[in-house]
Amino acid sequence: MGGKVTVVGAGFYGSTTAMRLAEYDVFDEVVLTDIVEGKAEGLALDMNQSRPVEGFETKVVGQTTGLDGSGYEAIAGSDIVVITAGLPRKPGMSRMDLIETNAKIVRQVAENVAQHAPDAVVIVVSNPLDEMTALTQLATGFPHNRVIGQAGMLDTARFTNFVAEKLGKPVASVKTLTLGSHGDTMVPVPSRCTVDGQPLSELMSADEIEELVVRTRNGGAEVVALLKTGSAYYAPSAAAARMAKAVIEDSGMVMPVCAWVDGEYGIAGVYLGVEAEIGREGVRRVVETDLTQSELAGLLEAAEAVRAKQADVQGL
Ligand code: LAC
Repeated sequence: MGGKVTVVGAGFYGSTTAMRLAEYDVFDEVVLTDIVEGKAEGLALDMNQSRPVEGFETKVVGQTTGLDGSGYEAIAGSDIVVITAGLPRKPGMSRMDLIETNAKIVRQVAENVAQHAPDAVVIVVSNPLDEMTALTQLATGFPHNRVIGQAGMLDTARFTNFVAEKLGKPVASVKTLTLGSHGDTMVPVPSRCTVDGQPLSELMSADEIEELVVRTRNGGAEVVALLKTGSAYYAPSAAAARMAKAVIEDSGMVMPVCAWVDGEYGIAGVYLGVEAEIGREGVRRVVETDLTQSELAGLLEAAEAVRAKQADVQGL
């Protein structure tokens, strides 16, 4: 396979993403960067030393970057850049509470990415997700298809896990879907949920489904409340790494992501959680699915909520 992927930010989310990407053993090189002196280098050294045990050849390179853009030469030629930079939530915070702080960080990172890796597909995971994805597209000036956000894979994974646990089924038997925003206007889509092909509505009462929908919408906050410091990273990094793998393999896999919507569902001009076909150029196309009236109403509501906030980030 080959290719180069960069992960910006060596916190728990970034470092676990880098580790997963290296363990796939499909890239030549994984670059991990951080602004904390030596952190990325130390983690890269440690990851490389796991190669003989886990049996992968991908090289991990750590690089400290400065606020002046120093160190970004290391990301040159990246096929994919995953941006994890920014602060995580504290207990009680909403993702939106991070918007001003993280907009400054993400904008600075995005400008350096545009300068040093102008051909990359960018996967954004910083919060608030939909807004930071929109900001990254603006700050890089990249075509919309080359800037994607990670959220739907994670939210869907959480929904699937909750359904599987509730019914005592293997996660592989369960298919679920979430659309909309990675926030309060997340739209879990029960009509698209099945267990061994059987509609979820035949296996659970409407109240039970609603309970899992609410838990999914609060999935990130539930972890934050337990951890007390920091936010989730195992499931988030799994989701981000799979998106990067779909890009480098040009797989055409359809996955829920935050993508630029331009007419689908009657919505246009906004980054929103939808299903999209992912390939070497990022988003090949947004895939529309049948929704019930209330699910579609939820998606339209999410689009307007995100649109309003995305307009705000332009000035941040
Ligand atoms: C979460 C954060 C990473 O949902 O947005 O866990």
